[in-house]
Formats: sequence, C-alpha cells, structure tokens
Amino acid sequence: MTNLSKFYQKTWQQRLQALIDQKIISDQQRKILQCSASDPELGDQQIENYLTHYNLPEGLALHYLINGKRYLIPMVTEEPSVIAASSHGAAIIEKSGGFTTKVSGHLLWGQIVFEKVSQPEKLKKNLEEQQEKLILIANQAHPSLQKRGGGARHLRVRILAADLVSLDLAIDTQEAMGANMVNSMLEAVANYLGTQISAPVLLSVLSNLADESLAQASCRIPVEFLTRPQLAGQQVAEKIAVASRLAQLDPYRAATHNKGIMNGVDAVAIAMGNDWRAIESAAHAFAVKSGSYRGLSQWQLNSDNSILEGKITLPLPVAVVGGSIKIVPLVQLNQQLAKINSATQLAEIIVSVGLAQNLAALQALVSEGIQQGHMRLQLRATILAAGAQPNEVATILKQMQQMKKTDLTTAQSLLAKKHESEH
Ligand code: MEV
Repeated sequence: MTNLSKFYQKTWQQRLQALIDQKIISDQQRKILQCSASDPELGDQQIENYLTHYNLPEGLALHYLINGKRYLIPMVTEEPSVIAASSHGAAIIEKSGGFTTKVSGHLLWGQIVFEKVSQPEKLKKNLEEQQEKLILIANQAHPSLQKRGGGARHLRVRILAADLVSLDLAIDTQEAMGANMVNSMLEAVANYLGTQISAPVLLSVLSNLADESLAQASCRIPVEFLTRPQLAGQQVAEKIAVASRLAQLDPYRAATHNKGIMNGVDAVAIAMGNDWRAIESAAHAFAVKSGSYRGLSQWQLNSDNSILEGKITLPLPVAVVGGSIKIVPLVQLNQQLAKINSATQLAEIIVSVGLAQNLAALQALVSEGIQQGHMRLQLRATILAAGAQPNEVATILKQMQQMKKTDLTTAQSLLAKKHESEH
C-alpha cells in the first residue's frame, strides 16, 4: 500500500520526494520530472498535486490566407503529419484565393433541468412568461459581462420527458469561453426559481452543444491545383467529392473524417490555451445533430466540374481571455504570432484549419494514400523510439531511406551498428 496522504498539501519538491520514499519513482525519474517542469510555481497554482509540465511539440502552420489576410498559425501536436498536412492544404487554398469565413454569434447555452415535473406544458408556459425577469436575474449575477456588451439574450423551454423539463438560457460570453460565468448566472436563476416552482432543479450547467457559436469556412479550388504525381487534378477532385459524400452516409468513415479535422482544430485550440475538450464535445454533438453522425465538412464540384467547392461548419466556443489564457506566457506569444485579439478571429482561423486539414487528408487518401507521407514523417519518431539521440536521427534516417525501411527493428540495428563503430 502506498501512502501519499495529504499529497496536495505538500510542496512540489516534497511531492517528488514522497514518490521516491514510497519507491514509486527512482531518483533518475525524479530528474525527468524536474527537467520537464518548466514552471513549477505556475503549475502548482494551476492544478492540484502538480508534478511536472507535460510538453508537446509546437510548430507553425503556414500559407493561411483567410478573408484576404495572412496568418501564421501556431499548432501544438505530437502527431508528425498534422502541421505538414495543414500547411499543404492551406497552400492549395491560398493559391485558389484563400478561405472565406463567417462567424455567426458567440452564445453559449446554459441548462436548468427540472425533475419530477407533473405538468410539463404548464411549467413551460410559466417559464416562457417569465423570460424578461429570468434574463434580468441572470444578468444581475454577472453585471461586468453586461457592461462588456454580453449577457443573457433569450431563453427556450424544452420538454424532454413527461417528468423532465429543460430551461435553456442563451448567454453572450464576449471574448471569454464563459463556462464559469454561465454557470454562476444559471445558479442565480435556479435559486430564484426554486422559491416559486414545485418541481426540484436536478442540475444547472452550461451545455457544450454550442450551436449558437457557429463558424463557417469555405473555399473554391480550381481542380488543376489538386494534381498528384499519379492522378490528374480532375480525378482527385471527383474522388474528394465522393469521399465527402461517403462521410455523410457512413458514420464509420465520418468518425475518421472528423478526427482528421479535429487534428488541426485541437492543435490550434491547445496552442491558444482553449478548452479543447469543450470544442471536441461540441463538434461531435453537432456532427450527429441530424440524427446520424456525419462529416463536418463537405466538398462538391461546381456545375462545370472545374472547381472543387469546400465548406465546413463548426461550433467553436472559443476564447481569447479567461481560463489559463492570461497566465500562460506561451499562449500570449501564440496569440501574438497569429495576430488575433478576438474570439471571432480565433474561430475564423480554427474553422479554416479544420477545412485545410480535411482537404490534405482527403487529397492524400484518394490518391497515393496517407501511409507514404505519414511514414516519412513517422520515421523520425520510430528512430527516436529505437533509442537514438536527436542528433543521430538524420544519419539513421538517411540509411533507412536508402534501404527503403521504416520499421523499429531496422532502426535499432542501424543504431547499434553506429554505436559499435564509434567505440
Ligand atoms: C489521421 O490522424 C487522420 C486521417 O485518418 C483523417 C482522414 O482519414 O480523413 C488521415
């Protein structure tokens, strides 16, 4: 039995020591935790039981031309092909005139759910009649939001079952994601309603199905820009349109299609200090809103088959203030790199990244397949996994490329040979 009692009360150093004392980690492993801990004081303030900072690589995606403006987009990801694919997709779209985006609103839904309801229709009418008063109470719970131009806007009531009714408040959270604001506004309304409605409140919390924070991106690509070494641009475009239709028809394919989109979306969300779990849950809930799970983007040829038209709609409850954004210096730097200062701009770049990412994946999938490109990029990771130091990767990489090999065993044996020859 390990004893880590009052772990949260210990200092960072004491916590590491406790893990050693309990023989959970070695002294060598403590050094790994210490080396990775880029800012232990900050980490200790951010989360409980802080041990270290888990680092992920950050890179820049290039070639983004959005509404006529150029952007450098920081992305955080461990997947080797993501940034390369993103820049590649964006470059094709850049040549075609860039992305056009539209952001329609930045409202979050908050739910107050009543249980044990005996007369749902009567409760619905009662709540709807009180719209003005309930919005006032919500706004009084967060006056600073209203001062900044935000606040509760409207409400709706949904009867979910004979005994369950949801009162939904739409709240404009301005530049913040707003989870805490929404939750405290909801609690104020729930407390007020608790005094006059007999059905008890089961829970009140925001909904991550942020379908009033939608961002759209579109692009129009002349088919010749899609040409691959073994396939004419026209054929690539036609196949991309079929792959897009497939993702509307088959949830098995749609899940993978959307995973590719989220490869890019999450990478930017993380770089920008946003809650990527909220963005993920919003995206997937939105993808299944019609009743079947579908691809989030669509591609089709224009009437004379010369242009491939792409579009994507994503719910993007994003923020440029709040949460960890102001306290993590790297996030500030990333905002500066991307030159963004509003949630709308952030939504515009994220939705564009989603579309570029999807284009690159589909272009590769319908032509030479993704393995060729993936494996080239993955090879470096395989060589590192074989035990190479970063400064040894280039030599082993060259040898493996000459041998046309991509496997771990070959990397290990080449590395062993290299080390032998050095002794
Ligand atoms: C891999 O991380 C993502 C892809 O599978 C996406 C797709 O299939 O569309 C390449």
